[in-house]
Amino acid sequence: MPAGGRSAANGAKYKTWPDGQTNRIAPPLTHQIVTPTLTPTLTPTTTMADTLTITDNRTGQKYDVPITDGTIRAMDLRKIKVTPDDFGLMTYDPAFLNTANCRSAITYIDGDKGILLYRGYPIEQLAEESDYLETAYLILFGELPTASQLQNWTQQITLHTMLHENIKKFMEGFQYDAHPMGIFLSTVGAMSTFYPDAKHIVDKQSRMRQTHRLRAKVPSIAAYAYRHSIGRPYNYPDNDLSFAGNFLNMLFKMTEVKYQPNPVLARALEVLFILHADHEQNCSTTTMRTIGSSQVDPYSALAGASAALYGPLHGGANEAVLRMLREIGSVTKVPEFIKKVKAGEGSKLMGFGHRVYKSYDPRAKVIKKIADLVFAVTGKNPLLDIALELERIALQDEYFVTRKLYPNVDFYSGLIYQAMGFPVEMFPVLFAIPRTAGWVAQWEEMLLDSEQKISRPRQIYTGPMQRDYVPRDKRS
Ligand code: ACO
Repeated sequence: MPAGGRSAANGAKYKTWPDGQTNRIAPPLTHQIVTPTLTPTLTPTTTMADTLTITDNRTGQKYDVPITDGTIRAMDLRKIKVTPDDFGLMTYDPAFLNTANCRSAITYIDGDKGILLYRGYPIEQLAEESDYLETAYLILFGELPTASQLQNWTQQITLHTMLHENIKKFMEGFQYDAHPMGIFLSTVGAMSTFYPDAKHIVDKQSRMRQTHRLRAKVPSIAAYAYRHSIGRPYNYPDNDLSFAGNFLNMLFKMTEVKYQPNPVLARALEVLFILHADHEQNCSTTTMRTIGSSQVDPYSALAGASAALYGPLHGGANEAVLRMLREIGSVTKVPEFIKKVKAGEGSKLMGFGHRVYKSYDPRAKVIKKIADLVFAVTGKNPLLDIALELERIALQDEYFVTRKLYPNVDFYSGLIYQAMGFPVEMFPVLFAIPRTAGWVAQWEEMLLDSEQKISRPRQIYTGPMQRDYVPRDKRS
């Protein structure tokens, strides 16, 4: 684990699944919520390791608050009061810019150094060596599978790829031009009605069943959503094929007896799936945890997470990148476009910037490499030159340099997906398929974390204080 990390790897607990597999879960409390020590003088306190001394200038009181894993507990601040009946101090952190909401042993990111690890393994190594189902297993269960564990896991996923015929009928009810992501997230939510046992979230075996079902059925739903949007019959899964190969089969098979996926494209899709499998506490994962904290079934929570992913600032960004590249139209218009972005006249430079990465997104580096392999098969995407020129100019421009804005995972992924024949509307769906592993792992971790409760932030109330109701005829 790199120095300075906030990973919960130390002190992690292990849990054993019903089939004997073991995985790491969130570690226990490392310190109890300590009542801050009141030091009722203004004299400097002795410097102690791992505490923060706070002076409340309203009262002159000093407090020592424990620091653990580079954080203080917000609840420790509650003891800082002006009067005994005071509610106590809170933190104000709109959009969670500096608030850790959980302890997690799944994904580690060092945004300044551009490091991304799943359960300790660098993303570059997984993209090179692993395949998607193995990476999903690692994310869900904490360790790389042995040969027999992988075989068992693959078999379980393969067994569950079929959708209930009524799910098909449900999907047929959508308008002919419905956005596939709208179809996708509604259908995932509807799955809770097909699997009512999913509400037994305290039952390990039930959770495992839903994990298998979700991991296996989400690509089938995604493919059906696409086929529906182009008015073609749905293709049943072909379980002889790899995870990505079967997905391509369900999307693109026409009248041939057996669909043969192009091995380069199937591998590229596997790699893209690996890169998107988890990304710690992003908007959609936080949504998954927040909805799941109410103890609803995982299908309902995953529908909410997918809805969060749909937005253009999150999983919708690669769709926005392609629209932006088309709008720019030619390499010669790039400087003019950058000028407008900097002046705040147009949109942002989509596919650039990240809440966590303040250097090159390591996923974008891997994607840039596989782009060449894909374009060798499909022919170059004509928008690539515009993207390369945008990146070249932006990486030298003071505006982007000072704000540490670099290409993120979405800058090049859309170009690859488009070259592979996916319409832009499918892009957020292509993101949701692999991220399902991360969402489910984070949901499981949240449920097993004894510190977690129903998610419920505080607010600073800015409305009027109590006032009397005014009858309608007396209002001006
Ligand atoms: N183009 C131009 N300026 C930008 C961009 C961008 N893409 N991103 C950030 N900035 C500017 C902001 O205007 C702000 O400038 P200011 O300090 O002068 O006000 C500064 O950089 C800091 O940006 P914030 O908005 O504070 O950064 P935040 O962490 O809130 O947002 C986000 C991160 C949403 C990803 C943002 O960079 C963005 O909108 N990027 C474009 C959309 C995108 O590509 N999203 C995909 C993210 S990856 C993913 O979800 C898988």
